[in-house]
Amino acid sequence: MTFFRSKLPNKLSAGLLFTLGCGLLPLQAAAKSYNISSPDGAITLAVDDDNGPSYRVNFNGQPVIEASRLGMVFKDVAGFDSSFTITSVEKSQVNTSWQQPWGERKTVVDHHNELLIRFSADREQSNRYLVRFRVFNDGLGFRYEVPKQNGLTGKVEITDELTEFNIPQAEHTTAWWIPARGWNRYEYLYNTTPLSEIDRVHTPFTFKLKNQVHVSIHEAALVDYAAMTLDQQRTGRLKADLTPWSDGILVKTRADFNTPWRTLQISPDAVGLLNSDLILNLNEPSKIADTSWIKPGKYIGIWWGMHINETTWGSGDRHGATTAETKRYMDFAAENGFDGVLVEGWNIGWDGDWFFNGDIFNFTKSYDDFDLKAAADYGEKLGVKLIGHHETSGSVTNYRNQLNDAYDLYRQHGVSQIKTGYVADGGDIKRIDENGVVRHEWHDGQFTIGEYLHSVKEAAKRKISINTHEPIKDTGLRRTYPNWLSREGARGQEFNAWANPANGPEHTAMLPFTRMLAGPMDFTPGIFNFDFNANSKEKAGIRPQTTLAKQLALYVVLYSPVQMAADLPRNYQANLPAFQFIKDVPTDWENSRALAGEVGDYVVFTRQERDGDDWYLGALTDEAERKVEVALNFLEPGRQYQAQIYRDGDKAHWLNNPYDMVIEQKTVTAKDKLTLALAASGGSAIRFKLLK
Ligand code: NOJ
Ligand code: CA
Repeated sequence: MTFFRSKLPNKLSAGLLFTLGCGLLPLQAAAKSYNISSPDGAITLAVDDDNGPSYRVNFNGQPVIEASRLGMVFKDVAGFDSSFTITSVEKSQVNTSWQQPWGERKTVVDHHNELLIRFSADREQSNRYLVRFRVFNDGLGFRYEVPKQNGLTGKVEITDELTEFNIPQAEHTTAWWIPARGWNRYEYLYNTTPLSEIDRVHTPFTFKLKNQVHVSIHEAALVDYAAMTLDQQRTGRLKADLTPWSDGILVKTRADFNTPWRTLQISPDAVGLLNSDLILNLNEPSKIADTSWIKPGKYIGIWWGMHINETTWGSGDRHGATTAETKRYMDFAAENGFDGVLVEGWNIGWDGDWFFNGDIFNFTKSYDDFDLKAAADYGEKLGVKLIGHHETSGSVTNYRNQLNDAYDLYRQHGVSQIKTGYVADGGDIKRIDENGVVRHEWHDGQFTIGEYLHSVKEAAKRKISINTHEPIKDTGLRRTYPNWLSREGARGQEFNAWANPANGPEHTAMLPFTRMLAGPMDFTPGIFNFDFNANSKEKAGIRPQTTLAKQLALYVVLYSPVQMAADLPRNYQANLPAFQFIKDVPTDWENSRALAGEVGDYVVFTRQERDGDDWYLGALTDEAERKVEVALNFLEPGRQYQAQIYRDGDKAHWLNNPYDMVIEQKTVTAKDKLTLALAASGGSAIRFKLLK
């Protein structure tokens, strides 16, 4: 074990006292600085104490984060401030791997160097804090560890977290971002601006430095804490801005406690960000020992009909969730190899304006024309699962009061997956406190974060998996709770049914580099008919702004272990050749690799089927048509594959010729290259079927 002197220009201390290999080591007082590097040496982290606790990060010798403050402020008692200095350090190394029950890859390598720093101050009360840094080849994470100590023995209320991220050369840095603390939660179109133009943003927050180094700031293992958003204070200086409770406190906790990991994914180019496992590696191993009941899969649902206003969630002549309709969907699912059928609008509470029905939703009583048992039993005979649905409209106390009974009921009928929904404006999650007072909380505040996890844990007790809409952002908790299969947390396909503007051509070229660095998304791809609003005066231009081939590519590009075929069965029946790709594409992978891409412009992913021989490729572009050459060297050498290609036709264009698609076959090997010709907002989807 050795400590590296800084390779960065810094003021190093003298007179360090340490012995090797025996835990935390006492050091003499004087300004000090410690470095560690990533295993490959490209990332270097330095931690200093001369102007108070701070850290700096270099990549290939160039600054990525300049000296940035660390610390936190508590209500009533002293916190972790600039009077603290480094009093001991411990260094260790991990090089191991672990397996995911489902995911983008089966085996994840965890190779990192760790630096645990103890800061102390000469105080009677609350005089020591630990900061644990882990540096990987794809980035780094650090968290605060707050021990029980004099003055911090029980309740602690955090009123500020002082963590900063100082970005160099801010005037030459490009940022991709959505605003934080807005009414529409995470459901905004991404902005591309100079860094100086951002105010308060959500994470993952991705930016590109002048030297093309791409960085994304996020967090891992967000449990029992408030979400970190980033507030630009001076140009280039981003400060952690934790989402508050309704009473203004940021975090209510007890000593001892650890914060979530503050993370930086770092890559010389955009595509490298997509191949990072940093967030998962910073989460705890699974708390669920037997994960065999947790199943990825594909589903259809009584869903799009409501979004395009053909049917309704509420009762009446156009009610979507009837037993008869559910059976028809189940027949279609069984015929086409889908695992489940989602049914929304089955339960009492949707009538009127359901956005405001949070207090009247009943999660155990069905509408008269929906027979839960009959529907579930019918599916069971066909080998198709009924997928449950709970829309809370943000009234989380009403939901929690019914949660046990509601999950028991679903369990009793063999339902093993529930999609939940928290439709409410940002800041308008309604809870009723211990005194019966109504409080309004943020979706990403500590209170609601606890509610989401409560749902996941209660579901796990009943062998049920959860797919959360209007969620807290993903921070890799699927590793610890693998029944938290997927979530929304960005603008999904639904915006293409009713929103003005709909998701533009660049949206799905933006998501992989931003939202999806956090984890899987239930985007719900696969719309085949774009003309549903053609006769509507107000909604005429609202439709998926893609080609048909791009809808297919989304199944490979936007990773989720549960993927929906979102359109109506009749639209698939009208185009069975294109539908074949959706039937074939798996949702669980042996391995995944992003091959090319630029943020918001285009992206190419390949993925190998879990425990299978076939590979799949998805490529898509923004409004610009482009040609991308792809080397097939990911295929097994010496073997032949049939490439089943679904590509844009020569005249395809998302606006006026979206259905122009060619399906063709080619025999290829690992030595071949393919040139993908992507139309404006077009794509390619390819299955490489091993020829035996
Ligand atoms: C919002 C969800 O994202 C959407 O998929 C669902 O249909 C509605 N809420 C109703 O629950
Ligand atoms: Ca939504």
